[in-house]
Amino acid sequence: MADVERQDAVTMDKIVSLCRRRGFVFPASEIYGGLGSSYDYGHYGVLLKENVKARWLEAMVREREDVVALDSSIILHPKVWEASGHVSGFTDPLVDCRFCKRRYRADHLDASQCGQRPSKRPGETEQCDLTSPRQFNLMFETRVGAVEETGQQVFLRPETAQGIFINFKNVAQLARRKPPFGIAQVGKSFRNEITPGNFIFRTLEFEQMEMEYFVPPDEAAEWFRYWVDERLAWHVRYGVRESHLRVRPHGADELSHYSSETSDIEYLYPMGWSELEGVANRGAFDLTAHSEASGTKLEWVDAGTGERFVPHVIEPALGLNRSLLTFLIDAYDEEVVGERERTVLRLHPGLAPVKAAVLPLIGKSEDMVSKARALYDELRRVAMVEYDDSGAIGRRYRRQDEIGTPYALTVDEQTLADGTVTIRERDSLAQERLPLEGVRAALLDRLSQPWKNPKA
Ligand code: GAP
Repeated sequence: MADVERQDAVTMDKIVSLCRRRGFVFPASEIYGGLGSSYDYGHYGVLLKENVKARWLEAMVREREDVVALDSSIILHPKVWEASGHVSGFTDPLVDCRFCKRRYRADHLDASQCGQRPSKRPGETEQCDLTSPRQFNLMFETRVGAVEETGQQVFLRPETAQGIFINFKNVAQLARRKPPFGIAQVGKSFRNEITPGNFIFRTLEFEQMEMEYFVPPDEAAEWFRYWVDERLAWHVRYGVRESHLRVRPHGADELSHYSSETSDIEYLYPMGWSELEGVANRGAFDLTAHSEASGTKLEWVDAGTGERFVPHVIEPALGLNRSLLTFLIDAYDEEVVGERERTVLRLHPGLAPVKAAVLPLIGKSEDMVSKARALYDELRRVAMVEYDDSGAIGRRYRRQDEIGTPYALTVDEQTLADGTVTIRERDSLAQERLPLEGVRAALLDRLSQPWKNPKA
């Protein structure tokens, strides 16, 4: 990671603290002291994650005619991982310090802290006693079967992609698709990561949103470029500032065992530029390997002409949790409004966990409460909305700003007199009055309008 600093107020500590305070994300198994690099998602975290996933599926499947969906198993036949090269090649080089008993990625020593003296790198102090690097497989192993000794050793998948490759024949036939076409999948993956994760940037279990795009071999280079552009545009469409994104082609020494060309879409995190999403040209590696290992030919055969070929694969692969983290970081803002500071998440309305809050100005006024509850009951049928009548109105606005709610609807004295409510816009703070009976249509209309990050 490069030592580049962002120019805005956000830090990883502020994101961690906001996530904890508002219940987006918190450490897993906390009452037992937590488990490194594992996190649980609370109410707003779940809603945000579901929205990120929905926007990805929309762009990758619903808005296209050439991509279909799949949900394959997490535990696959162990031979899948032998054929894919993961048993032999999905490793990180690790070194141990015999003195402090810490373990480090050999290729990340420059960015690691010595276990005894955090201001130094491992190996820099006189007491450091590092072993030579050893390859460490990142796959979690478990066993299938009732009896430990006779059970079959299996792995928790470290990527969703292999479930797609081994289903190529099924899906291509059932979906009646001809290359170029894609298969998209969202699901959990597991990696025994030993380096500390920068919050949810790198965790033991995470969700991936991967799409394998099968193309005629001579079109692979062109489709690779297409998908790099397409995926970059998706992050921008949902609010990530272009100035915080860049595309970095991998050098030959960095390429995964299956890839002939990979570009990372990198984001400028508070800790520096790092991978957000990878786009790889996997060539015919996976379909060929599974054809050879399983004896089932995974190739494209044109029923009309008899033409046959092993498609090449272009793969955009994005971590759902990492994408969520990126949206949170890019949306985070602090500003002073009327001499008071507010923290605001400027999330795209399509991602915001709550779309609108319904607030009676005076929580103790029965008339306001009953009108506000009626409006809330109407809106919750069509959108994720929240009702809040506790505390001063300014505090309630700030609570919603902090979770990124784009609109607040306030029922006040004027509502009782003329049947209108105030709609307050999160980013501009503009307020307008709307007739109660028009709120639902107006809200849905505003939520569907194109949105531009006001900080872009
Ligand atoms: N099928 C290809 C593949 O898995 P990858 O670059 O290892 O490629 C793809 O992973 C994406 O998954 C990454 O760009 C990142 O967003 C996410 N990812 C990978 N490891 C992760 C981890 N330990 N925690 C969170 N996200 C992770």
